[in-house]
Amino acid sequence: MLKIVETLISKLIDEVDYPYATELFQKLSGGKRLRARLILTIAPEASTAPLLGAIVELIHAASLLHDDVIDEAQLRRGVPSVNATQGSKTAIMLGDILYSKAFSSLTAFDPVISRAVAESVTRLSVGEMMDVAMAESFNTDRDLYLKMLYLKTATLIEACAYSAAVLAGKDAQAHLTYGKNLGLAFQIVDDILDITADEATLGKPSLNDFSEGKVTLPYIDLYERLNEQEKQRLIASHGKVLDNEEKRWIRSKMDEFKIIESSYTHARALCDEAIEAIGEDVALRAIIESVIQRSH
Ligand code: IPE
Ligand code: IPE
Ligand code: MG
Ligand code: MG
Ligand code: MG
Repeated sequence: MLKIVETLISKLIDEVDYPYATELFQKLSGGKRLRARLILTIAPEASTAPLLGAIVELIHAASLLHDDVIDEAQLRRGVPSVNATQGSKTAIMLGDILYSKAFSSLTAFDPVISRAVAESVTRLSVGEMMDVAMAESFNTDRDLYLKMLYLKTATLIEACAYSAAVLAGKDAQAHLTYGKNLGLAFQIVDDILDITADEATLGKPSLNDFSEGKVTLPYIDLYERLNEQEKQRLIASHGKVLDNEEKRWIRSKMDEFKIIESSYTHARALCDEAIEAIGEDVALRAIIESVIQRSH
């Protein structure tokens, strides 16, 4: 089924009818295709599920193209980002092509679905704006952080689960709750991996979020545990390129207070809520495990 999604993605890109866009898109490499897999898992029988999967993967790819411009990221999926190789202008316009192609293709779906997906992209964009604004200072407001994380990452995953349930005639609200909690857990794991994984596995530099000014959940938790002097040291490192000594210090403090364990506990609790919403389901449980246990 995922093969059909790949074929449909190529078809949608070919329809753009601009070889340079096709060439750049092909160089992107596919990623994990979590959002398409989620749709196919919830609506395996629905004939239009692969097209919906292809559309959301275009949306996701567009959001990453723009995200890498916003974050000035040089690496994506282990290769130089489009903004790094072709410049930000090209990355932005390629993102716009993918977004608009996705939205025009969405009109083939029931308005309940097209609206849910399109509105999730509005929320994703609001979340990205909040992320940028929050990186200006050392944010210690956990609820604000979780709200931003819901908007920038969980809403698209939530919309995928909801729309797939509508396609399959399943309980849409229950699947929405599943998708929301899965999406939240997914971004918390993304924040953890930024700290624990090495560059080769991650396909981007490690401990990069904090250098970008992002005070992610583990840093918020760590800050609360540090003494006054250590708090000042952490704040002083915020938004800067960290040398190895500072990286070692941050990691050792995270170890000392078992910060990564508690972030995983938080992600696990969200996954339990996700499962509780839909009841035990082997395939959707497997997606949850792949999110929690992922290494990149
Ligand atoms: C990366 O998403 C961006 C986030 C929302 C954290 P994925 O980790 O799903 O990206 P790919 O598609 O597998 O590369
Ligand atoms: C997620 O934010 C990106 C989107 C939701 C578009 P990040 O900035 O954390 O994503 P990565 O870490 O670059 O993949
Ligand atoms: Mg980024
Ligand atoms: Mg970002
Ligand atoms: Mg990240």
